[in-house]
Amino acid sequence: MSKKINNLIRHRSTRLTLYNHKGGVGKTTLLVNIASALASLGYRVLLVDADPQCNLTSYLVDTDVVDEWLDNSDSENGSTIWSAIKPFMESYGDLNFVKPFERQEGVYLLPGDIRLSEFEQELNQIWVDCLQRKVRGFKGASAISEIVNVIAKKENIDFVFYDVGPNIGPLNRVILLDCDFFIIPAACDLFSVRALKTLGKSLYDWILEWQVIAQLAPDNSLLLPGRPKYLGYILQRFRMYGGAIASQFAGYAGKVEKSTYSDITEVLRRIDKDLAKGTLSQTKLGQVKDFASLVPFSQTQGLSFFDVEGGDVSMKKDAKKEFQLIANKIISLTSNT
Ligand SMILES: Nc1ncnc2c1ncn2[C@@H]1O[C@H](COP(=O)(O)OP(=O)(O)OP(=O)(O)O)[C@@H](O)[C@H]1O
Ligand SMILES: [Mg+2]
Repeated sequence: MSKKINNLIRHRSTRLTLYNHKGGVGKTTLLVNIASALASLGYRVLLVDADPQCNLTSYLVDTDVVDEWLDNSDSENGSTIWSAIKPFMESYGDLNFVKPFERQEGVYLLPGDIRLSEFEQELNQIWVDCLQRKVRGFKGASAISEIVNVIAKKENIDFVFYDVGPNIGPLNRVILLDCDFFIIPAACDLFSVRALKTLGKSLYDWILEWQVIAQLAPDNSLLLPGRPKYLGYILQRFRMYGGAIASQFAGYAGKVEKSTYSDITEVLRRIDKDLAKGTLSQTKLGQVKDFASLVPFSQTQGLSFFDVEGGDVSMKKDAKKEFQLIANKIISLTSNT
């Protein structure tokens, strides 16, 4: 492997994303809850809204404030991810520092922006520039990584979580290539089973293509690490109720589990065994229940299921337990892997 790989100087924080190009599997909701669980255990978390839909930002922050951020994101002291990238987009200039929003103790947010889709369009050319060994290509491909790096260092962050949109596009490609680990959230249905194949294949292609690009890169280029390791999957059972559907759920849960092994673990191991070390049982990070009655509280207050005021007390207890279990697995697996 090229010596050039990893020459982007990174802060010690661990970077992760919950990735599944299938939409609506609960990525954003999981992130909010896992971040709060990690914060409750004393960790400092940066959430990066890297989805142009900005759902995470709307989830955590009042609409008026979000609108103001979006209206002003082009200005000198803008607050969103677009504000940070803008100088690169305008003239390949140096990135702006953006102070993250402190949502609660230990949970910070780099707000999203609809205009991130403009950067995503540019990323197609940036990828071509990388293949042609042009320095600006590497600068563009690592732009989000660098922004995150500066914030993680300033705020002394332990875990960075990227919230990404449901697609296999160039923005998600650079984000995955920046991550140390990725987690797959999956619903228990036919579409989730089928999506895993495409997911594994895309990751396989991205990692291999980046290896080629990194080998060819001119010296001193900023390089993404390009080695996202598969940490595990989380089953989302929130759309399942009672009898017949519950047994169908169990059937699909088994299929999803098997497919994570054949379509993700085995595929990544063809590149490098270290990219997917866990056994099937080790990669099961959790199974999240239907917390539908807590959703309105959570979304209006911008807090995790278990931090909200009001709502069913025993359900909140359950939620805290489930998400702290997942958080503890993430802590131990990322420190050992
Ligand atoms: N554990 C849960 N219990 C009940 N409802 C949930 C749960 N998790 C997520 N939901 C609901 O499912 C819907 C989709 O969730 P969410 O937006 O988090 O998915 P997503 O994967 O981020 O979607 P997208 O692909 O559009 O980014 C939301 O309405 C959310 O409130
Ligand atoms: Mg989302």
